[in-house]
Amino acid sequence: MGTWKPALHILLLLLLGGSYVTCEEWCYDKPSCGPHTWYSLGQCSGAYQSPINIETRKALPGTHLGPLNFIGYENRMLPKSLTNTGHYAEVEMRSGAAIFGKGLPATYYLKSFHFHWGKHNKPGSEHAVDGKRYDIELHIVHTKNNMSSEEARKDPEGFAVLGFFLQGDNGASKIDAWKTLADRLELIPEKGDSVLLAGEFSMGGLLSKAVVNNYFRYRGSLTTPDCNESVIWTVFPEPISITHKVVKKFIDSLYFTTKAEGRRMQDNFRPVQPIKKQKVFYFEESKHSNDLTSSGRFGKQGGTVASNH
Ligand SMILES: *[C@@H]1O[C@H](CO)[C@@H](O)[C@H](O)[C@H]1NC(C)=O
Ligand SMILES: *[C@@H]1O[C@H](CO)[C@@H](O)[C@H](O)[C@H]1NC(C)=O
Ligand SMILES: [Zn+2]
Repeated sequence: MGTWKPALHILLLLLLGGSYVTCEEWCYDKPSCGPHTWYSLGQCSGAYQSPINIETRKALPGTHLGPLNFIGYENRMLPKSLTNTGHYAEVEMRSGAAIFGKGLPATYYLKSFHFHWGKHNKPGSEHAVDGKRYDIELHIVHTKNNMSSEEARKDPEGFAVLGFFLQGDNGASKIDAWKTLADRLELIPEKGDSVLLAGEFSMGGLLSKAVVNNYFRYRGSLTTPDCNESVIWTVFPEPISITHKVVKKFIDSLYFTTKAEGRRMQDNFRPVQPIKKQKVFYFEESKHSNDLTSSGRFGKQGGTVASNH
C-alpha cells in the first residue's frame, strides 16, 4: 500500500513532462526552445534551409531571371493590421497586390510582411551577404496564384518571399511611412496585441528608397518551424537606410509574451543555415537603366504619404 502513491507521482510527472515538451512552442530566446533546438521540427534539418550567407563570388548568373513587377504596392488601403505574433511584428494585407516576373513560375499575391531584428548595436537580419548582416530584415510574403498559406506550405514553390535589409544610418532621409509604422509598434507591446491600419502607409512607401534592380534568387525554406522548403527567395543586397530612431523602436517596443514576464522581443532571427543544395543566382538589370530606386515602380503614390491636414 505504501508504494503506489510515489509511483503515481512519477507517472504523472512523466505524462506532464512529456506533454510539456510537445506543447512547448519554439522560440528565439531560451535554450530549451531556441533555434538550436529546431532541427527535430518539420523540415528544419533539410537540404534547402533558410536563411543563408550569400557568397557573391559563388552566385551564378541568373540568365533565367528578369526584373520584378509590382502590382498594387502603392495602395495605402491594403495594410490591414499590425500584430505582435509573439515571434515578430507582422502586417496583414488585404488582397490587391502581387508580383510577377521572368523566373517566377506564377503570379504571387501579397499576403503579409514582417520583420526580424537584433539588439542595440547588434545586427538582426536573417540573411547575410559575404558574412555581413544588417540591423533589420523585412520579409514580404506572397503566395502562388493566391493560394492560402496552408496550401503554400505544402507546395515546393508555394511562397515568394522578398527579403530587404534595413540599416540604421545617420544620413538616412526621413521616410514618413517608416516613422508611421515604427510609432505603431509602441501600441503592440504584448503577444496578441494588434492595431488596425487605415491608409497610413503603403508597401511602396516603405520601399520608396529601395534598390530593386539587383537581387539574389534561391530556393529555400520558411525561417520559422516547420521550416517548410516551399519558398522562392529574392534577397536584395542593397540595404534601405532608415533612421536610428526607427531601428530603436523595433528593438525597444515589443515583448515575446507579456510585459510582466519581461522577455524583450530582440534577436528574433534564425542563424544562417549550412549550404547543402541551395543554389544562389544573381540578377542585375542593365547598367544603362536609370531607374535606380523603386520610386518609379510603385506608382506616383509609392514614395509619398498623404498629409494629415
Ligand atoms: C485571394 O484570396 C483572398 C482570400 O481567400 C480573396 O479574398 C481574394 O479575393 C483573392 N484575390 C484574388 C485576386 O483572387
Ligand atoms: C509544412 O508545414 C505544415 C505545418 O505548418 C505541415 O502540416 C506540412 O505537412 C508541411 N509540409 C511539408 C511538405 O512538409
Ligand atoms: Zn521572416
